[in-house]
Amino acid sequence: MENNYAYWRNLCFKDVANDAAYIEKFCDNCGEGVILEPGSGTGRLASHLKNRKIKFLELSGEMVEIFLKNHPDKKDDIIAGSADNAPLPDNSVSGIYVPFNGIGELTPIVFTLKEFHRVLKDDGKLLICAANPDFPMLRAGIGVMAGSTINDIFQFDGRTFKTPFGRYSWQTMLSIRTLAGEVSFSINQYLIPREKLEQICGDAGFKVDSVHGNYDGSAWSQRSQWTLLSLSKAGENSGPALDAHVQKLTSTYDTVAPSYDTFAEKGTYAIPVWLKAKLQDIKLIKPAILDLGCANGSLGAIASRHFGGCSLIGVDVSPGMITELKKLAVYKNSMVWDLNRGVPFIESELFDLVFAFGVLEFVKNIDLTLGGIAETLKPTGSLLCSFECFDEVKGGAKVITDPRIGFPRHLYTEEDVKAILHRHKLEVVSCERITAYKSPSTGAEVDYFIVQAKRDRNLG
Ligand SMILES: C[S@@+](CC[C@H](N)C(=O)[O-])C[C@H]1O[C@@H](n2cnc3c(N)ncnc32)[C@H](O)[C@@H]1O
Repeated sequence: MENNYAYWRNLCFKDVANDAAYIEKFCDNCGEGVILEPGSGTGRLASHLKNRKIKFLELSGEMVEIFLKNHPDKKDDIIAGSADNAPLPDNSVSGIYVPFNGIGELTPIVFTLKEFHRVLKDDGKLLICAANPDFPMLRAGIGVMAGSTINDIFQFDGRTFKTPFGRYSWQTMLSIRTLAGEVSFSINQYLIPREKLEQICGDAGFKVDSVHGNYDGSAWSQRSQWTLLSLSKAGENSGPALDAHVQKLTSTYDTVAPSYDTFAEKGTYAIPVWLKAKLQDIKLIKPAILDLGCANGSLGAIASRHFGGCSLIGVDVSPGMITELKKLAVYKNSMVWDLNRGVPFIESELFDLVFAFGVLEFVKNIDLTLGGIAETLKPTGSLLCSFECFDEVKGGAKVITDPRIGFPRHLYTEEDVKAILHRHKLEVVSCERITAYKSPSTGAEVDYFIVQAKRDRNLG
């Protein structure tokens, strides 16, 4: 067998006539123009959707190969590329459909949804079909398709396990008995409950038009097999409002953004030097790095010079900072996001390294953020971060607001830091106290605990 996974999917989903009928109806509602099927795989639906202008987007070279064997007439309609960085112009497609839980494979899903928003015309429509994790057969945890026989060619058993880390990640072990013998392989899938799916679509700027529980159009219930969401673009500023402190912080950093490097130099900001030295001890090949509170991307630039070929993702609440970061062209992807809402990825174990420098003092619910970081780190991953020090000798409050800047900072003792990390099963590798910068408003020196931590396998 040339490609187990592609071959298996091709056979499993051979009978897609019902599903195709539903998607036909969706396409009818999209109006004139091109329809996009991202993650089109081997092209199971392609032959059913006649007389449509469909473009197929696929990342895997193996899938494209089988697609082209199945559909040689569509060679001009298949685009090689990743849905989270779609090689398509803004406002260029009338509809996008993502069938058969394909959304769970288009990771990181938050970036994919943002790309859908960018490439869809303003009156365009999006259809997402996600496997419902409440569906009893999935909940049973085993035997998703146990013992099925497909076309008398081979038999396969499916076993679906939830991975121990991560709320939405599941791993399916497939054991296939073919004429040539038995082959086993596993695939990772993301099963997203309806509320979460609606929330992440809302965050990406979509509103829900209708929800169904199956391709036959039946009403959605907790026990439905699928969640079929039909969505359209919501207006500008449709996301949740930022709280007043975060608004103040955002406008402060938006103002600083164009001259952030000078601002950091003036304050003799110590993190860039510390990071450069620290990275010498970290041996990773092409690591995936998440930079939280990434500002203009100056730390990512250091990482990129050190590792070469690393894949950087930046998250910051300040749109001004993200604009500056994009000019640097070092980050693979970035997003405007308030960490007070947690870490924006639903997939677990995405990153080899997470940076969170000069940002955790601004976060109100540190456990929400650290929980998200722990979940998104690979089992062998490390967190490099800073916590602003609470000076036990001076005493005072652990949450302070400089009236000249008008938003609070949260301070921690070394014991606090260790306890927080322990709560999230992160083991401290090193924790140093350093003078991090001189306050631009008072000239006072500010100290950080600067931490390297890793996922602690003994803690589970
Ligand atoms: C002091 S700068 C540090 C930037 C960079 N990490 C560094 O060390 O050079 C703090 C950054 O965190 C961002 N930030 C603060 N609060 C945030 C939040 N709640 N969510 C996301 N980013 C936040 C700010 O917009 C700013 O760009």
